[in-house]
Amino acid sequence: MEQRRLFVIFIDKEESHMLKKFLSYYRPHFRIVAFVLAAVVVYTGIELAIPVFTRTILNVYIPDGDLQSVLVVAGVLLVLLIVYMIMQYLVAFYGHVFGIRMENDMRSRAFNKLQTLSFGYYDRNKTGQIMSRLTTDLREVSELAHHGIEDLLMISIMLIFGYIYLIQINFWATTGLFILTFIQLFLMLFARKNMIVAFRKLRSKLAQINSRVEGVISGVRLTRAFANEEFEEVKFQADNAEYMEAYRGAFSPLASTTAVNNFFVQLLSVAVLVVGAFLVAYNQIQFGDLVAYIMYFALLTTPIRRIMNMMELFQQGWAGFERFQELMDEPVEIEDRPNAIAMTGDVQGEIVFDHAQFTYNTEEADILKDFSLDIKKGTMVALVGPSGVGKTTIAQLIPRFYELSGGSITIDGTDIRDYQMRSLRRHIGYVQQDVIIFWGTIRDNIAYGNPEADDAAVIEAAKAAGIHDFIETLEDGYNTMVGERGVRLSGGQKQRLSLARIFLKNPQILILDEATSALDNITEAYIQQSIETLIKGRTVLVVAHRLTTVQSADEIIVLDAEGIVQRGTHQELLAAEGHYKNLYEASQNGIIGG
Ligand SMILES: Nc1ncnc2c1ncn2[C@@H]1O[C@H](COP(=O)(O)OP(=O)(O)OP(=O)(O)O)[C@@H](O)[C@H]1O
Ligand SMILES: [Mg+2]
Repeated sequence: MEQRRLFVIFIDKEESHMLKKFLSYYRPHFRIVAFVLAAVVVYTGIELAIPVFTRTILNVYIPDGDLQSVLVVAGVLLVLLIVYMIMQYLVAFYGHVFGIRMENDMRSRAFNKLQTLSFGYYDRNKTGQIMSRLTTDLREVSELAHHGIEDLLMISIMLIFGYIYLIQINFWATTGLFILTFIQLFLMLFARKNMIVAFRKLRSKLAQINSRVEGVISGVRLTRAFANEEFEEVKFQADNAEYMEAYRGAFSPLASTTAVNNFFVQLLSVAVLVVGAFLVAYNQIQFGDLVAYIMYFALLTTPIRRIMNMMELFQQGWAGFERFQELMDEPVEIEDRPNAIAMTGDVQGEIVFDHAQFTYNTEEADILKDFSLDIKKGTMVALVGPSGVGKTTIAQLIPRFYELSGGSITIDGTDIRDYQMRSLRRHIGYVQQDVIIFWGTIRDNIAYGNPEADDAAVIEAAKAAGIHDFIETLEDGYNTMVGERGVRLSGGQKQRLSLARIFLKNPQILILDEATSALDNITEAYIQQSIETLIKGRTVLVVAHRLTTVQSADEIIVLDAEGIVQRGTHQELLAAEGHYKNLYEASQNGIIGG
């Protein structure tokens, strides 16, 4: 019990949980870890043996004038040193090997975890911060993972065997000196607590800088367009200054700990010398003993000093692991129910919103209060309404990108929460408002709709989406690389590319969130044609910004902040006074987008 409490001073409950997690990452690499540790044992043993030989030479062979034995010892030492060198190599090499393997495991797990987290997580966290968790943070964890246990083992062996050996030379002096050494180690552990906090802060500031840079790079076009370079620079400098401040905060305790520790180490060497001088003078020990003693002590202080140098690595590595674990402990907000069923091939596609209620953030007002809507199979329903009323939100609820807070959404009579999420999404084609183009070839981008599709199918989809002819004009055709944000494609081309994806996917249910950006009449006509081909025979929900799309809908739903205000066909709505009529008239006069 007493011991436990002492333990708690250094490691609290949460940390011990973390430590357990951390150690669990060693398990799969047990063999290589054991191999490296065995090599550590061998070279530490050799380091410990050297002063023993020195002592024998000084105490026995020199007084006896036995030079032949000195040469024999030298020979043995040479062999040992060669073994020593090999062991050092093995530790340095294989230590890093298992370090990087652990890092890899952690990174893969983090990556998989990221695939399971809901969009809510991505709304709350910045890309740069997530990135740094998977890169810099884990790099440091890996360093800690192998240097940490190598050094810990070496130090333990040295302290135990050093003590056993030295008390044979002189019990009281050795015990006294070791007590001082332990006091020093304890002080170091105490100092650690402060540093952990400071380094945690440092990590998050660094991540903040990453986010800023990420934002600036992805927003470079915007910045230039507004000639806001200086403004960005000021913000960046502020982040940088905060980082510098955090750095000072972290390194000030580190510096003082290092200084105090080095003082202690030197003090101990002086103490050894003074105590030794007295012991030799009073004939308690021989001169050779003293030399061995001093050598041993120097040996012992090396690992202690090494721990101190490692403090930085240790703090950073641990802070990195904490951030990694934080990600791993992140609750998966949306997951399959235990007995979720697969959505089968013969989907009818009737979608029913039943008193659905939704908010992005529990503290904020509901975006959907009591939303009910029935989309019959094979029909097309259009959502129209002012910007920000929640049209995109409604669309995103169907593939379960976000979870309802009340009511339900059913497809063919089954609650979407009772379907396996992946099978649900496989049957839904979702054309997003902002088209996302991956870095890769045009073919890859289209084939994202169905990675198993062959070239012929890709080309057919491109033709259906009305973009084949354009692709043919490119030098590399379907192998043309398109940039991170599809830099080389125009807005209309990107939209057609995203439609091609859906043609390839061929889902029963289609959700179209039309881009608000206006297109020229010809492109619009092209896209309209593709969309008309696409919607045939499917159940479609379209967030419509284009009048052509709205007119062909079976039912039009007009939304405002309170919910549905009008519904009916184009003709019906035009006949009635109200929002839709105003909208239509405005668009006829060329005023409107949404
Ligand atoms: N990821 C999000 N997290 C928090 N709030 C959000 C999020 N996305 C949208 N909102 C908020 O929800 C409301 C509805 O947004 P939504 O994107 O559904 O509007 P919209 O009707 O599609 O508008 P538009 O016609 O401009 O595309 C807005 O007030 C918006 O600020
Ligand atoms: Mg929208």
